[in-house]
Amino acid sequence: MSSRTFVMCKPDAVERGLVGEIVARFERKGLRLVAAELRTVDRLLAEEHYDEHRSKPFFGELVDFLTRSPVFTMVVEGPDDDTWELCRILIGKTKVTDAQPGSIRGDLATTTAENLVHGSDGPESAARELALWFPKVGPKV
Ligand code: RTP
Ligand code: MG
Repeated sequence: MSSRTFVMCKPDAVERGLVGEIVARFERKGLRLVAAELRTVDRLLAEEHYDEHRSKPFFGELVDFLTRSPVFTMVVEGPDDDTWELCRILIGKTKVTDAQPGSIRGDLATTTAENLVHGSDGPESAARELALWFPKVGPKV
């Protein structure tokens, strides 16, 4: 059954003019944009989004980063129940030196802190993040 996940081009991607390149990679894979929005993020929303990282030493920097300029948020849909996982493969590993060539981070990112794209890391986080960022669109199919 088809499924949806949440993907976001972070501020560095928008600043570097890479939104088109990044969206094209999801589209070429056969995934579909259901909704998208360029928006500025306030600190409350950034903190809620990265709630799992509140106790990490990089949390403040992460929130500073996400709020410094607009992000491009997307609801991405694929034909099976693994859309979140397909997106994570296209995005690449978190640590910049682990991100494989061919992935977005592997091809285009040079630091772990500014790694261009966010993707939900499981079905539950996809549902939570879709509700947080796109409450009117929702996870359903
Ligand atoms: P994301 O949530 O943005 O898709 O990234 P991810 O799952 O691959 O990685 P995660 O562990 O959730 O970390 C969230 C974001 O925090 C920044 N980070 N900085 N300085 C550091 O050691 C460090 N570790 C993580 C990255 O921007 C990462 O994407
Ligand atoms: Mg994450």
